[in-house]
Amino acid sequence: MLSYRHSFHAGNFADVLKHLVLIKILEHLCTKDKPFCCIDTHAGAGSYQLDSDYAQKNKEFDTGIGALWQLDNLPCAVADYVKIIKSFNATDKLTTYPGSPLIIQQYLRQQDHLFANELHPTEIELLKLAIKRDRRITVQHAEGLQTTLGLLPPKAKRGLVLIDPSYEIKSDYETVVDYLFKFYKRFAHGTFALWYPVVDRVRNTYLEKAIKESALKNVQLYELGITADTLEHGMTASGMIVINPPWKLAGDLQACLPYLANTLGLEGHGFYRIETLVAE
Ligand SMILES: C[S@@+](CC[C@H](N)C(=O)[O-])C[C@H]1O[C@@H](n2cnc3c(N)ncnc32)[C@H](O)[C@@H]1O
Repeated sequence: MLSYRHSFHAGNFADVLKHLVLIKILEHLCTKDKPFCCIDTHAGAGSYQLDSDYAQKNKEFDTGIGALWQLDNLPCAVADYVKIIKSFNATDKLTTYPGSPLIIQQYLRQQDHLFANELHPTEIELLKLAIKRDRRITVQHAEGLQTTLGLLPPKAKRGLVLIDPSYEIKSDYETVVDYLFKFYKRFAHGTFALWYPVVDRVRNTYLEKAIKESALKNVQLYELGITADTLEHGMTASGMIVINPPWKLAGDLQACLPYLANTLGLEGHGFYRIETLVAE
């Protein structure tokens, strides 16, 4: 189908949580010299202009990065995230928002590698332009989940798989969880970060139940909502399910999710969840 374009949503509250968690995982991977491998299953266009017609349509970034841009005294993890986004903007004005592959690129050392998969014919060309030539990165015009399965386990024994589908069809929730189990079988020590939206809570309950009843170990969930669950307003919350998270991650999120729920939540209705879905 491929009608989804991330340019409408770049920098919204969901990207804030997703990219903040991504940055914390990358920082952890960089604490050791040993090489790591990242796979971005659904990489997107790589870079987004927030003054474009797409981003300006609903100005979703206003209740995401835009609401944090000028604030001082941010909790550490939020400050680190905003600092990275600022590094993509030449002036104090927020005009550019980096996607996940460009954020990962910032953390790659000479010994590390990123595989960035994207299926949309327009987005893949934009992604190639955004990445430029970088021998540490393989950009692939390919189906994200099946291609990732073929890359596991990576030669480097450490790494992250970021799974960030657009959930355009209801069955995506089932497909993604099936692939997650296959990935884990091949790379049980890897870190996996699965993004999910909350549009209809029934689908999330299915996803969480499937994970809880699976063979996965050491699974944490972090969620940020801007208003209470409802079937009427599209995405009201989103989260990251992380398998084999860095040991400090839950503490980092405990220190910033209450702040984000308070700052980004609509009319005081923001909320968060930090839960262990499956113990170590
Ligand atoms: C949520 S966006 C990715 C955003 C990106 N990960 C980021 O954080 O900046 C999802 C992307 O997946 C792409 N896509 C959809 N189906 C795909 C598939 N089966 N394989 C690979 N990419 C796909 C869409 O074109 C879209 O660009």
